[in-house]
Amino acid sequence: MDLTDTSALVTGGASGLGGATADLLASRGARVVIVDLNEELGKAKALATGGLFVKADVTETADVEAAVAAAAELGPLRSVVNCAGIGRVARTINRDGSPHDLDLYKTVIEINLVGTFNVIRIAAGAMATAEPADEHGSRGAIVNTSSVAGIEGQTGQVAYSSSKGGIMGMTLPVARDLSAIGVRCNTICPGLFRTPLMAELPEAAIEGLSNSVLFPKRLGEAREFAELTAFLLTADYMNGEIIRLDGGIRFQPK
Ligand SMILES: NC(=O)c1ccc[n+]([C@@H]2O[C@H](COP(=O)([O-])OP(=O)(O)OC[C@H]3O[C@@H](n4cnc5c(N)ncnc54)[C@H](O)[C@@H]3O)[C@@H](O)[C@H]2O)c1
Repeated sequence: MDLTDTSALVTGGASGLGGATADLLASRGARVVIVDLNEELGKAKALATGGLFVKADVTETADVEAAVAAAAELGPLRSVVNCAGIGRVARTINRDGSPHDLDLYKTVIEINLVGTFNVIRIAAGAMATAEPADEHGSRGAIVNTSSVAGIEGQTGQVAYSSSKGGIMGMTLPVARDLSAIGVRCNTICPGLFRTPLMAELPEAAIEGLSNSVLFPKRLGEAREFAELTAFLLTADYMNGEIIRLDGGIRFQPK
């Protein structure tokens, strides 16, 4: 699939992995809509990419509908990248024996899992109305962001891992459902990436994390995530797949 003059929706596009993806898709000719809660960073990214910023909460249907409508105005909506997400740390039972806060668990599921599906279902409706891009009826592709923590979640990651496992679980059925309209769906499981979140850690902590990577012994760069995302969006035979991007790391219990 050629991205030139198509529109692309990137949630969480104001920062980190989504931000690098917005940059790369714009450099490949896509008109990018940044969907994020962070207005300051979102506007700056829209300016840098020549795209549009729509302030939206991925869990809010009206917000997502507005973002999808804005994207469809810029050109046929062919690319949807779900990067919006949060991480929260809490154990199933806390050290003092009290149970995991249920509202905290629900919040992580709501943003990471329900939010991802909310964007998919609304965006797919708009993608279905665009003319096919080729003789096979291709209309575009979706890339979701899970995590290796969705496979081997660490102590304290129960809510986050549940949400990311759900994203993996939806990948194939979404691909199957959307095959009827010629839209593919794949999911990336990143390992440890250098994003604003990680940049706050002291250098010694980053070195420790880097050493836990099999090879190369460093954090992933957001640009590397963006490159895999662009590949999954444009490689027409990639569908229903879940791909680790992690330098061979395997998370230990702690
Ligand atoms: N950085 C890593 O090492 C890593 C590893 C595995 C998975 N991930 C996943 O990659 C994705 C991006 O992470 P990142 O490191 O770039 O983080 P980040 O914090 O830099 O970016 C996440 C963006 O999502 C936005 N966001 C949060 N909640 C939102 C909501 N309800 N609606 C709209 N936007 C919302 C934030 O404002 C932020 O701009 C997340 O889903 C994260 O779980 C990151």
